[in-house]
Amino acid sequence: MRVAISTGGGDAPGLNAVIRAIVLSAVRQGWEVFGVERGFGGLLGSARVVPMDRESVRGIVHLGGTILGTTNRGNPFRWPMLQTDGTWAEVDRSAEVLESFRQLALDALIAVGGDGTLHIAYEFWSRGLPIVGVPKTIDRDVSGTVMTFGFDTAIQTATDAIDKLHSTAESHERVMVVEVMGRHAGWIALNAGLAGGADVILIPEIPYDLEKVYRKIREREARGRHFSIVVVAEGARPKDGEVTVKAPAEVGGVERLGGVAERVAVRISEETGKETRTLTLGHLLRGGSPTTWDRMLGQRFGAAAVRAVAEGRFGHMVSLDPPDVVLVPLEAVTGKANPVPLDADALLTAREIGICMGD
Ligand code: F6P
Repeated sequence: MRVAISTGGGDAPGLNAVIRAIVLSAVRQGWEVFGVERGFGGLLGSARVVPMDRESVRGIVHLGGTILGTTNRGNPFRWPMLQTDGTWAEVDRSAEVLESFRQLALDALIAVGGDGTLHIAYEFWSRGLPIVGVPKTIDRDVSGTVMTFGFDTAIQTATDAIDKLHSTAESHERVMVVEVMGRHAGWIALNAGLAGGADVILIPEIPYDLEKVYRKIREREARGRHFSIVVVAEGARPKDGEVTVKAPAEVGGVERLGGVAERVAVRISEETGKETRTLTLGHLLRGGSPTTWDRMLGQRFGAAAVRAVAEGRFGHMVSLDPPDVVLVPLEAVTGKANPVPLDADALLTAREIGICMGD
């Protein structure tokens, strides 16, 4: 067997653990393994495909990022190409990927990525490519799996940051507004906010009413708590408004969210008279050494993907269904979001202990 691995979309801690497990398990099967660099784009034009062996994955399990590189503008069905008139347009180059795959005499591709990558994987599988997906995202917004690797490291980093903000918030009697990633899912904000002892958590699933936030801050003032911590997900929006977009979608890409913390902080300051400061954690949440949990899940997913290839279970994605790692059809998960359910236990817990959820 000749098997290739690619990593696509935003990087997440645990990707190298997946790569390592895939390479080691595949080599033990006696297969040849190849790494496709920078997502599916590595199979376009002069293919960027490198042979991999035990040596290529030595000492990487604890490293963040991906040794194969990645991009979130790497959809071969919507590839950005410069036109003769100087503008950019999306071009379908999927046939070139299929051709490279044949030319390289590959038998299988293991595609590691988030909802975008898994959707591309599904499209290729529908066109006959033998492909197995591995879900990845710090946002935990992929459906069909209880957990993705990267999320645990991201919430640990966010919780550490929130912990450190408490003392300065209290010393200066300020309201600190912390913005975390997550796109249109509030998992990071909810988990890190709850673990970090936030007073207010705003998530995309619950459009916020700032009057409720002011009330919470005033209540705390009245109780002699002259500071507050507000955690806001980048995809949160007011009940009568839109998400805050930092940059519109580039050709072949998606819009970039960001800026909601500033928006919220200005209003809090105007309405409550409190001094506010903002902190956007941004890409910090994608970095660092993966937690034990993310290394474990990454390696379990990697080994399970090789098992799936050995069994010919193409068109599937590995998924955590505790305590097992199982396979689910890509068709069943692609295009489906995984928002925080309004009856999620963590959300109920937040409400029950008095955290304001903005409603
Ligand atoms: O999906 C992961 C993620 O980090 C999101 O939380 C965030 O909105 C997005 O990627 C940022 O992507 P970029 O790498 O384009 O800044």
